[in-house]
Amino acid sequence: MEKKWWHGLIGYQIYPKSFQDSNGDGTGDIPGILSRLDYIEKMGISLLWICPVFQSPMVDNGYDISDYEKIDPMFGSREDLKRLVDEAKKRGITVILDLVINHTSDRHPWFQEALRDPEGKYGKYYIIRKGKNGQPPNRWRSLFGGSAWEPIGESGYYYLHLFTVGQPDLNWENAELRRELYRMINGWLELGIGGFRIDAIAHIKKNLDGPELPADGPDGLYSAMPYFRNVEGIEDWLRELKENTFQKYDCFTLAEVDDIPEERMEAYIGEDGYYSTVFDFCHCHHNLQNPEWENRGSAMLADIRRLVFERQLRMNGKGFFCNYQENHDMIRIPDRFLAKQDQNFYSLSMLPVLYFFLAGVPMLYQGQEIGMTDFPRQSIGEYLDLATHNSYRELLQKGLTEAEALDRINRTCREHSRTPMQWSGEKYAGFSTVEPWFAVPPGYRDCNVERQENREDSLLSFFRRVTALRSRAEYRDTWIYGDFEPLEQGTDSLWAFARSLKGQRLCVLANLTGQEVQTGQPCSGRVLLNNYDGTEQAGGKLLLKPWQAVVMENGKGNAKETRE
Ligand code: BGC
Ligand code: MG
Repeated sequence: MEKKWWHGLIGYQIYPKSFQDSNGDGTGDIPGILSRLDYIEKMGISLLWICPVFQSPMVDNGYDISDYEKIDPMFGSREDLKRLVDEAKKRGITVILDLVINHTSDRHPWFQEALRDPEGKYGKYYIIRKGKNGQPPNRWRSLFGGSAWEPIGESGYYYLHLFTVGQPDLNWENAELRRELYRMINGWLELGIGGFRIDAIAHIKKNLDGPELPADGPDGLYSAMPYFRNVEGIEDWLRELKENTFQKYDCFTLAEVDDIPEERMEAYIGEDGYYSTVFDFCHCHHNLQNPEWENRGSAMLADIRRLVFERQLRMNGKGFFCNYQENHDMIRIPDRFLAKQDQNFYSLSMLPVLYFFLAGVPMLYQGQEIGMTDFPRQSIGEYLDLATHNSYRELLQKGLTEAEALDRINRTCREHSRTPMQWSGEKYAGFSTVEPWFAVPPGYRDCNVERQENREDSLLSFFRRVTALRSRAEYRDTWIYGDFEPLEQGTDSLWAFARSLKGQRLCVLANLTGQEVQTGQPCSGRVLLNNYDGTEQAGGKLLLKPWQAVVMENGKGNAKETRE
């Protein structure tokens, strides 16, 4: 594979509203991010993805953009962003922005024009159709609940919104609109950003001509994924988008696309793919708190292992996934992957080892490095997200009691990951000097950066060791380009694989259980990373302590003798 500048990046995702407030208004902002650059650098990060900071009425916290050219004053100014990009660059960190081009905000001037004249120039920028007998054009359900169509006053027209009503979908069939978007994208690339995380891009093509499907819920609607995800013909636009923008700047692109057909994978993320990389979603539906997995933590992790390894083998040397465990749309991993009673330093530090040494671009989410956990609420009113409230309503409609519906939301809600970053044990967790826009979880006095900062045995210090090993000059190429080989497949208790390149063989072993587990195969070598003080061997095989995670270089020294 041809080497590219972005191949060795280690990413960190920032949800700007919740990262660091600098001006005492209770909301995170760009100068706040700037003030934490040293922290980010010290963590070994080389790629910063910042969720949307553009002008927005914040119906979906910035994923509803009303002016692509402006930074929302809540976050700062264009100059602040430029300063952040430049300062990050000095530290060897590439900044990427979130590119939301499946939809705009309903406050975007294009859409305001479209409302005034649905058949005019800007009406054609959106997906607007006549209703049928006083009903919407079809019975598609929005991804965030309710009908995907909203009437435009009394006009008889409806507009399509796959997400909230405040996020009308753009009409990509319109070449003029596409050109406008490319112009805007290139403008940001000119500013010196390193690329984009590309939002919801799998949905830009819609098939509005297919037959209606039967309703699949009491709302009389149906989930119409096959009509608006990876629809045939989308790839023409993806190529055009790349050629008119990203390619000209050799920038890094990370796309949010799930369910790419296996045979199309290389077209997406191969050497000449539409994107540098895409997120690997394969673990997203695994949640230990869901009935199918309850009390079977290691079985669930082993199931994720099966899916992850399949993908690693499929792409082996042909392209990269972005490997992440948390983001702003999911609950935190301690609560998703581990039972409460199993959450301790060893189990929490084992989790990043599963992912960081795979082929691909590893991406961390703010707060993951200190083990932030979920914040279940006493009442639905404590949640703010529209999508959360829509799912709550749907659950009630399906016949759940209020308590049952709240319990479900508490176990699955994406807002758990959006609580303010826990910097210290001070009031408001050092995030702000005033009451933050979203409540700080009660556990912040125990779990915060300040407490972990200078302790060798903290999760934060362990994460720093993980990223340092991922970037160490003598192993870097093997982590990036090395062949992937699954190990210890005979058991569900271990997550183990080797990466090898030019005679170097690096071996990653993690115990997915709270009991001691012995490897089936002999394994020895120099220990490069370990969440315990030493390793124990029995007859050439490794005896892994509860949740122990070890990285070693095979053929170099002996695991028993070379304690870290
Ligand atoms: C983002 C979400 C957002 C949605 C609509 C996504 O996939 O990650 O946070 O609500 O797109 O823009
Ligand atoms: Mg602020």
